[in-house]
Amino acid sequence: MNHKEALKHNIFKIISKSALELNIDSYVIGGFVRDYLLKRGDAKDIDIVAIGSGIALAKQVAKNLPNKPKVQVFKTYGTAMLKLDDIEVEFVGARKESYNEDSRNPIVENGTLQDDQNRRDFSINALALDLSEANFGNLLDPFNGVEDLGNKIIRTPLDPDITYSDDPLRMMRAIRFATQLGFIIEKESLNAITRNNERIKIITNERIVVELNKILESKTPSIGFLLLEETGLLKYILPELTALKGIDEVEGQKHKDNFYHTLEVVDNIAKHTNDVWLRWAALLHDIGKAPTKKFSKKVGWTFHAHEFEGSKMVYHLFKRLKMPLNDKMKFVQKLVFMSSRPIVLAQDIVTDSAVRRLVFDAGDYVDDLMTLCEADITTKNPKKFNKYHDNFKIVREKIIEVEEKDHVRNFQPPISGEEIIKTFNLKPSREIGIIKEAIKEAILEGIIPNEHEAAFKLMIEKGKALGLKTSS
Ligand code: CTP
Repeated sequence: MNHKEALKHNIFKIISKSALELNIDSYVIGGFVRDYLLKRGDAKDIDIVAIGSGIALAKQVAKNLPNKPKVQVFKTYGTAMLKLDDIEVEFVGARKESYNEDSRNPIVENGTLQDDQNRRDFSINALALDLSEANFGNLLDPFNGVEDLGNKIIRTPLDPDITYSDDPLRMMRAIRFATQLGFIIEKESLNAITRNNERIKIITNERIVVELNKILESKTPSIGFLLLEETGLLKYILPELTALKGIDEVEGQKHKDNFYHTLEVVDNIAKHTNDVWLRWAALLHDIGKAPTKKFSKKVGWTFHAHEFEGSKMVYHLFKRLKMPLNDKMKFVQKLVFMSSRPIVLAQDIVTDSAVRRLVFDAGDYVDDLMTLCEADITTKNPKKFNKYHDNFKIVREKIIEVEEKDHVRNFQPPISGEEIIKTFNLKPSREIGIIKEAIKEAILEGIIPNEHEAAFKLMIEKGKALGLKTSS
């Protein structure tokens, strides 16, 4: 088959010409070809295989490009990279590889195109298009990758035990592609992942997180997490989640399986946000339930303060996986910490003051928190489902209302400590705190509006009650 139309971008002609000048063959391979055949839109990464030196080809290409871009050379890997506007082109010499047991860094030898295709992860990623002048656009598909694309199958070119054991990251890649593309991992392959799951330990956390994020960013992330669990990978990566699995029963009382519940929540939230951090918050919102689970005869199953415990666990989890310990982590922590607040509201009559307190505590995160809590409604009881959603609609409307009126989202007290000091001619003392707290409480309770005049009046009253005299 010829796929010249995939190679319309001028860069391919230039690579072809450059390879001819060096008297070597070159091919575009991997994700670019796969995504072209799947019509997934224009890929931003182009991988080029040279039957010879990839670095030399990259340099020749740069020479032939009008703007003479800089070539980034990675000597240890024998690769080179060029940036063209928003496209990255990576060049590598065809390789024949074998790996050593303890790391995923291969021992590299030069090879043919066939050798190179053999060492790739999946049949659908081993597809190559010829860039030589005579065969420009010809497809080379030694493992029936096109057929696998049609049948939506993830299959390794070699014995899966070899492919996965060579580079255990591929176990996660298989699951990530299955999730992103809605493909099935062929049975032998799935069994091999299960057999080799422990080897995921040699993969760096950074690389694991890249795959986890891609799973989370997919349309239906649960596909990936179920596969990670089924193959035994999840317990090595996110033991906090596997700990949520299972239903306990004591004296006929059961709690829900919080692992499957969590996955439902993640799928729900994926319909409403593309923000990967909000999706992380959904994934982790119940992790505190495993360590806090208790049964008592009086009240049955409880998960006391699981939100607090969960938010502490978020920090340790991010740290372990070498994820950023920045405002993104704090965002996830805060959402986990507050994840039960709106649902308590929604079970009851929604009062203005409860909403005002929610907005005050959640600040700028309040909309995301609502999105999380709406996704958290997984009850199969349609009456309850509708009631909670209806109540959340009211909460959302009230959030807008109280925000317009009282601006408590980023609450700045209308009376400063300075003003209290001046008014009552005070030295720094606990009375200042008491007055400030009373004003804040009155605003949140809706007793006074969030305005200076009303707050000033209350300050005077409170000061008098505390036996203070105004300085004038
Ligand atoms: N590859 C591999 N084993 C890996 C990683 C990559 O065999 N562990 C090969 C595959 O042929 C893959 C190509 O290198 O197609 C490029 O890898 P990469 O850019 O990481 O992935 P893509 O397949 O391009 O997909 P995506 O951009 O979605 O990550």
